[in-house]
Amino acid sequence: MAALARSVLVTGSNRGIGLELVRQLAASPRPPQHIFATCRDPEGPRGKWMLCDLLELSSTLLFALADAVNLPSIRGAVRAVGSHLKDQGLNLLINNAGVSSHATLRSLDSREMLSAFATNVVGALVSLLQEFLPLLEKAAKGVGKEGLSCSRAAVINISTKLGSIGLCLKVPEAPMYPYRASKAAQNMVTRCMAAELQDKGILCVAIHPGWVKTDMGTEKAPLMVEHSVQGILTVLANLSQDTSGAFLDWEGNTLPW
Ligand SMILES: NC(=O)c1ccc[n+]([C@@H]2O[C@H](COP(=O)([O-])OP(=O)(O)OC[C@H]3O[C@@H](n4cnc5c(N)ncnc54)[C@H](OP(=O)(O)O)[C@@H]3O)[C@@H](O)[C@H]2O)c1
Repeated sequence: MAALARSVLVTGSNRGIGLELVRQLAASPRPPQHIFATCRDPEGPRGKWMLCDLLELSSTLLFALADAVNLPSIRGAVRAVGSHLKDQGLNLLINNAGVSSHATLRSLDSREMLSAFATNVVGALVSLLQEFLPLLEKAAKGVGKEGLSCSRAAVINISTKLGSIGLCLKVPEAPMYPYRASKAAQNMVTRCMAAELQDKGILCVAIHPGWVKTDMGTEKAPLMVEHSVQGILTVLANLSQDTSGAFLDWEGNTLPW
C-alpha cells in the first residue's frame, strides 16, 4: 500500500490523539517521507518525553514548536517545515490541537468562551491554515497530481460530534457551551475551506475521533486511542473528491453538521 502522503504535519502531537497519530504514521510499513510533529511546549515534561520516544521510532520525524494561539510560533513552524521540505510542498495538515471546556450556561463567562474560540477556531484552524496555505498549494500543484486526496494536499480538522448542531438535541447531557460552540464554528470553517480550496486541489474534511481515552476524553471514554487513530488513518487513506467537505467519524460514517 502506498504511503498516505509524502509529508504530514500534526498539531498537538505531544499527547493524546496527536501523539498516537504521529506514532502510527511513523510506525506504518510505508511511512511518510517527512512527519512534522508539533507542540506548544517542547521543553515541558510531555514535550521532552515525546521527542525522545518518537525520535527513536523514526528518522524521518522532525519536531517543531507551534503554539496555536501564538502567530510568531506558527510562522516559525512554517519556516522550519518549508526549509526542510526545500522545493516540495506540505501534503497533509492535521489540525488536532484543541482545548475543552465544560462550562454550562450558568457557569459560563466570556473569558472562557473567547479562550475556546481563540484556540479551537482562530489559532488551531484559521491562523494555521493561512500560514501553511502556500506550502499546501505548492504540494497540490505537484507533478502528476489530479483529483483530491491526502497524498496530494489536504487539511484534516479533528472535530467532535459534540459540535454537530444536527445531533445537539440527541446529546444534551454535556452542555459544554464553549467547547461545543467552538467546534460548531470549526465545522463551518471546514466547510468554507472545502468550498474555497477544492479548485486549488486541496481537500478539507472534519473528523470526529469517537469518545477516546485521553486527558480530554477521560478514563470513562470507551475507545482506546490506538483504535480511534487506526480508524482515522484508514478513513484518511480513502478520502477523495467525493468526500471533500464531509463531516465523518473515525469509522468513515457521515455525521450531520
Ligand atoms: N478525546 C476525545 O474523546 C475527543 C472526542 C472528540 C474530539 N476530540 C478532539 O481531538 C483533538 C485531540 O484531543 P485529545 O483527546 O488528544 O486531547 P488532549 O489529550 O487534551 O490533547 C490536546 C492537545 O492539544 C494541544 N493544545 C492545546 N492547546 C494548544 C495550543 N494553544 N497550541 C498547540 N497545542 C495545543 C495540547 O498541548 P499541551 O500538552 O501543551 O496542552 C495537546 O497536545 C481535539 O481537537 C479534541 O477536541 C477528542
